[in-house]
Amino acid sequence: MQCSWKAVILLALASIAIQYTAIRTFTAKPFQICPVPNPLNCGLGQDTDAFERICDEYPYFTYNISRKTHILILATTRSGSSFVGQLFNQHSDVFYLFEPLYHVQTTLIPRLSHSKSTADRRVMLGASRDLLRSLYGCDLYFLESYIKPQPVNHTTDKLFRRGASKALCSPPVCDAFGPSEVNIEEGDCVKKCAALNMTLATESCKERRHVAIKIVRVPEIGDLRALVEDPRLNLKIIQLVRDPRGILSSRIETFRDTYRLWRIWRATGRKPYNLDLSQLTVVCEDFLNSVSTGLSRPHWLKGKYMLVRYEDLARNPLEKTKEIYQFLGMTLDKNVVKWIQTNTRGSNELSAKHKYGTVRDSAANAESWRLKLSYDMVDYTQTVCPQILHQLGYKTVNSPEELKNMSLTLVQDRTFVPFL
Ligand SMILES: *[C@@H]1O[C@H](CO)[C@@H](O)[C@H](O)[C@H]1NC(C)=O
Ligand SMILES: *[C@@H]1O[C@H](CO)[C@@H](O)[C@H](O)[C@H]1NC(C)=O
Ligand SMILES: *[C@@H]1O[C@H](CO)[C@@H](O)[C@H](O)[C@H]1NC(C)=O
Ligand SMILES: *[C@@H]1O[C@H](CO)[C@@H](O)[C@H](O)[C@H]1NC(C)=O
Repeated sequence: MQCSWKAVILLALASIAIQYTAIRTFTAKPFQICPVPNPLNCGLGQDTDAFERICDEYPYFTYNISRKTHILILATTRSGSSFVGQLFNQHSDVFYLFEPLYHVQTTLIPRLSHSKSTADRRVMLGASRDLLRSLYGCDLYFLESYIKPQPVNHTTDKLFRRGASKALCSPPVCDAFGPSEVNIEEGDCVKKCAALNMTLATESCKERRHVAIKIVRVPEIGDLRALVEDPRLNLKIIQLVRDPRGILSSRIETFRDTYRLWRIWRATGRKPYNLDLSQLTVVCEDFLNSVSTGLSRPHWLKGKYMLVRYEDLARNPLEKTKEIYQFLGMTLDKNVVKWIQTNTRGSNELSAKHKYGTVRDSAANAESWRLKLSYDMVDYTQTVCPQILHQLGYKTVNSPEELKNMSLTLVQDRTFVPFL
């Protein structure tokens, strides 16, 4: 991803970024598009003129945000990211946002949930990095450019999954709930709180010591390098991975339309000829790229990257959470502990209600895919994703009996030591 800003700009002019340019024009706030000058980023001397011409227009943050920890949860859909998000959302000194990139995607690439065009992908990534940079600086007005309809008087009721962010459901943003309430129902927040006042949301963000953002729309860690290297940020990435077989199973249950052909396969025992295989292989490729980068320990990730397997977290939530907080250099808040205690024991009857719910018996659920996928589908997944299964320590099965024998775990003990 060297000098990718240049590619982004070029492609932006050539492709769908006409919209992006429009947003940029109408945005009152300075637009942070350029990476920080860094000889490691771009070859020394090379391109500096162009760089300065672009960057001079966009001043750096003027206030001091270096004391904050900026936490990024890099995940994919149905990998347990709501669960991990809660480990930060519940912290009283963390401002948490649930997937703000949803708005970037729906604005720039409407209709396509997984655009395969490289140009679209580049534009989406460039815009995503800019938005993340702004959000970590508590500039929530920046997000307004992507919300439809555009907020009036800095107020909106269209923020995606607003109720998933505790900070946006409690004072000063909303007075309907007390600050110590552990389980605010997402729907209740949306019902009881007035439309979201972005000015108050900004205040809430600035009051808190740390900012955590969960994203599922950035494919791999290399795409975030410009942010990791940005000295204005103190970015730490928690990459969440999960057994691709578990992800597939969970997506089949959740995204019923998009994964319809997989359900047909499961029901009939025959693989449909027009099955979109990329719905599975993209997960494996993105994981493989990220994990290979992360575990090769490049200098730019030093102290900034931790790989977490969802299954480990599900098995030992409190212990794993402590490790994560230790890596971040943050103290674990009692609200987080309380949340873990109330939500990770057998409370299965609650989970069915919520598509994205985190309330569940986590350990039992992490491997329950084995009872839901057919052996054919599992075998097929093992054939197309062998490397990543091996690298992450997920055992393959060789017979339907092995698959269904739950007393035999498929998760190998494996320690991924954070790169400090
Ligand atoms: C920003 O915060 C850091 C860490 O507290 C401090 O060392 C530095 O002097 C501050 N810079 C400014 C301009 O206030
Ligand atoms: C926005 O604020 C202005 C000035 O306070 C007011 O006149 C206008 O009605 C507000 N618009 C909406 C949609 O609330
Ligand atoms: C949003 O909150 C700010 C700060 O309290 C206030 O000044 C502003 O009037 C509020 N906006 C609306 C539309 O209520
Ligand atoms: C299930 O696996 C356990 C542990 O390896 C083994 O002892 C047991 O015989 C297996 N059960 C069946 C029905 O295969």
